[in-house]
Amino acid sequence: MNKKYKSRKSSFAITQKFKYWLILILISAVGLRLYFMFVLGAEGVVTEKLVLFLALFVMTFIWKLEGRDRERLLTLNAELIKAREKILEANINTVKSLVSTLEAKDPYTKGHCERVTNYAIKIAEAMNLDEGYISVLRNAASIHDIGKLGISDDILHKPGKLDDNQWDIIKRHPSDGVNIVSTLDFLDKEKEIILHHHERFDGRGYPDGLKEEEIPLGAKILAVADSFDAMNSTRPYRSALSNQEIIKELEKGKGQQFDPEIADVFLNVIRNNGVEIKSHKDKNQE
Ligand SMILES: [Fe+2]
Repeated sequence: MNKKYKSRKSSFAITQKFKYWLILILISAVGLRLYFMFVLGAEGVVTEKLVLFLALFVMTFIWKLEGRDRERLLTLNAELIKAREKILEANINTVKSLVSTLEAKDPYTKGHCERVTNYAIKIAEAMNLDEGYISVLRNAASIHDIGKLGISDDILHKPGKLDDNQWDIIKRHPSDGVNIVSTLDFLDKEKEIILHHHERFDGRGYPDGLKEEEIPLGAKILAVADSFDAMNSTRPYRSALSNQEIIKELEKGKGQQFDPEIADVFLNVIRNNGVEIKSHKDKNQE
């Protein structure tokens, strides 16, 4: 155990013992007062004033000690939260580097998770979501396709149409992703976003066929951001879609693939030039 925590723990133990002793002294004083008064009939030996003075002293002292302990606990708690955040960040970075390795194998998906994270954050900010949730969303988005690590390159990079069996394998990646990050047991909120990022608003998505409000908010945001990046990127079997085509697809997907409110938020982000549509450039270059 860390030396600092060890010394704090023993300091708490000393304070506790000290409090017990003070209470014991007070109880003894009251006991003596009663003994002298009722058994020996000698009221003046342990006077009422002496007991009251002792009680006041003991209570003031304990009150002070409690205040000091409370401050120490608050400091300790803040330090523990910081340490937990650091561990989480280190774990996320480890998983992120695995995702980058996975994406680097395919020039068409290189940087996909990073771009999706940026789009998801833009949506979350436009929806005025709180910082805590944006941070959870950022973590989940940056590793959302980690489950693809277990899928063979033949399927992942297949230029043509996938057969049913191959589709079944692809559909396992959200739950496989959750299994991979389950070893990091404090990623609970992120896990549900990763698990449901391919659900559809109309309930025809996977893995659980959740619909509308059953789908976690972060997963619905991720679904819009993920699809946008797919449409905005050139793939082996098609070019990136044009600005108008992307807007048309997002409009068409409202209430079907996408939560209409979130799709509208993102359409506004696009119209306000909040994201870069690079398809024109890609098409001109081809
Ligand atoms: Fe995915």
